[in-house]
Amino acid sequence: MLPLLIKYLQNAEHVLNSKPLETSVSITIKEPQTPKEFEAYYLLRYDILRKPWNQPIGSEKDANEDSSIHIMAFDQHNTVVGVCRLQFNSKTEAQLRFMGVKTNTQGLGIGKQLIIYAEQKAKQRGATKIILQAREIAVEFYKKCDYSIVEKSFLMWDEIQHYLMEKKL
Ligand SMILES: CC(C)(COP(=O)(O)OP(=O)(O)OC[C@H]1O[C@@H](n2cnc3c(N)ncnc32)[C@H](O)[C@@H]1OP(=O)(O)O)[C@@H](O)C(=O)NCCC(=O)NCCS
Repeated sequence: MLPLLIKYLQNAEHVLNSKPLETSVSITIKEPQTPKEFEAYYLLRYDILRKPWNQPIGSEKDANEDSSIHIMAFDQHNTVVGVCRLQFNSKTEAQLRFMGVKTNTQGLGIGKQLIIYAEQKAKQRGATKIILQAREIAVEFYKKCDYSIVEKSFLMWDEIQHYLMEKKL
């Protein structure tokens, strides 16, 4: 009886201490400015897009960071809950990369808000089209944001199928 009671109390404690899934969130979209914001920005990018595939720290960055526009979403507690990057391939073509939303806040509209901000920025800079390489799991999300598949493109790390998608602005 006693071991059972202890197990019950341990479970109850776990439930009380565990972080629940968020059900709604109030979002602010910003471009990182300070070293602390950039640190949090790259950390979320790493956690969502690299760590689950055991990729090394550093693999979340490429050679275009300095010339790109970085976009991040903060929740009401000032926690970073989403990131994406906009780069310019030419005067008229922009590309969205490194889109990731924190796992417990996915499906709450954060990804969509990041895209809306990125599209406004791309338009202001004169882009007429945005392209992106969508992971298969995210294709439906991008379709909801009015992107269309151009072609099946490449396989990353031998397992993640990508699709080239685009949207005219
Ligand atoms: C893909 C991702 C960025 C989407 O962001 P999100 O904040 O969860 O998406 P949103 O809540 O803004 O969804 C916008 C719409 O797309 C839909 N949607 C989102 N993800 C979806 C999915 N995987 N399948 C089908 N629909 C999806 C939502 O239901 C919503 O539809 P609605 O407008 O009718 O309500 C996010 O889930 C994520 O980070 N996934 C893991 C990393 C990843 O794959 N990144 C993309 C790399 S290319």
